[in-house]
Amino acid sequence: MPEMTKFYYDTAGSTNPVTLGALRKMVPLSQILFGADFPFIKSAEQRRLLQEFGVFNARELQVIFSENVGKLLPNTKLKSARLGVRATFCGGVRMDAMSDNPNAQVILITGTSSGIGRLAAETLARAGHSVYASMRQTASRNREAAEALAKLPARVIDLDVTKPGSVSQAVETVIQEAGRLDVLVNNAGHMPIGITEAFTEAQVQQTMDVNFLGPVRLCRAVLPHMRQRGQGLIIHVTSVVGRVLFPACGVYCASKFALEAYAEVLHLELSGLGVESVIVEPGPFPSRLLPNSPEPADRLRAEAYGSIAQIREVFSDTFSKFFASEQSPNTQDVADAIAQLVATPAGKRPLRTVCGPDYGAIAINQYTAPIQAEVLRSIGMPAMAKRAHAAATD
Ligand SMILES: NC(=O)c1ccc[n+]([C@@H]2O[C@H](COP(=O)([O-])OP(=O)(O)OC[C@H]3O[C@@H](n4cnc5c(N)ncnc54)[C@H](OP(=O)(O)O)[C@@H]3O)[C@@H](O)[C@H]2O)c1
Repeated sequence: MPEMTKFYYDTAGSTNPVTLGALRKMVPLSQILFGADFPFIKSAEQRRLLQEFGVFNARELQVIFSENVGKLLPNTKLKSARLGVRATFCGGVRMDAMSDNPNAQVILITGTSSGIGRLAAETLARAGHSVYASMRQTASRNREAAEALAKLPARVIDLDVTKPGSVSQAVETVIQEAGRLDVLVNNAGHMPIGITEAFTEAQVQQTMDVNFLGPVRLCRAVLPHMRQRGQGLIIHVTSVVGRVLFPACGVYCASKFALEAYAEVLHLELSGLGVESVIVEPGPFPSRLLPNSPEPADRLRAEAYGSIAQIREVFSDTFSKFFASEQSPNTQDVADAIAQLVATPAGKRPLRTVCGPDYGAIAINQYTAPIQAEVLRSIGMPAMAKRAHAAATD
């Protein structure tokens, strides 16, 4: 046998019996380390072959064998030219997820470069789930976050929620690699603050594109798969200002109210099909949302409001001080609430989970739930009314 070299083994394209059979002939079993039970190994035959090889708990999947493997196994991805790509890939996927946690889920999260999304990705990956942490610009602006998440390990993929091609590509990647998608977390978002009239039509469109149409795109991409499997969970991160209103947040509130409506109707329509659509409503939490807030482009209109135009600065100051104070909420609480929803058995998840200061959102939710259930009964949909009532009162 030629000199031995360390290789990372890309299982995505090569756990077929032919490849594994050929590999076994070349490499002593003791020199192969597989992740214990990674989610993209689907068939019983693949599992049996892996067990024959000897399966180890391994954070990184390593195969030590000949550099000539690419020539010997021409149909695999085990070519030295692709070594770097494979190393990233294997370092990025939680190989031992399924064995550590019998309830491990394949989870796609949007907007994981910072804040709630990043903490949720970390929390869920540490809990043993197979996390696909998606973000924009993984190779440039968000590279540091991407590299840190990949070390967890989580699989980091590019996803801009405003680009339909990017959304479908990301969802396809997950389903192809992992064999399934159990949970989608619609988290990506931004928060324009300022005099509402002074946001231009293009700016309002941009916010709706990220905060509302983004989740719509993701839902439409994952739902055929989830409906077909008769299971799945979609968690929408809205806001308490999807239920109550803050001045200076007219555009942001509109996008979150829209998402609340969409998510709740999905909840009703999907609940008979085994798929759940639930909502997390955070109050204010420190993140990059406030520092990255877009400001109104139409300055003349803002100036026409006189001193009221200072509302952006007032808002920003108030919450910056709050976040710097000892009373500041901990953003980890939102990530924990998301993880709790994932851990809750299907059918037992509440429609709405409020985190942090709620500004009356909990009371509004409690007040509107029976009204909504009554609306459903009055239009001849008692089964949905029952589900609506059950989910709201859990
Ligand atoms: N923090 C709060 O007080 C609070 C309260 C209620 C609700 N929320 C909601 O929680 C969610 C997360 O916000 P956060 O507080 O964690 O803020 P954050 O730290 O600013 O994170 C927002 C994330 O969304 C991403 N994003 C923005 N536009 C995107 C796009 N077109 N495609 C993909 N990703 C995009 C950002 O990525 P880039 O780095 O690439 O920009 C970032 O990863 C948002 O939906 C927000 O509305 C937050």
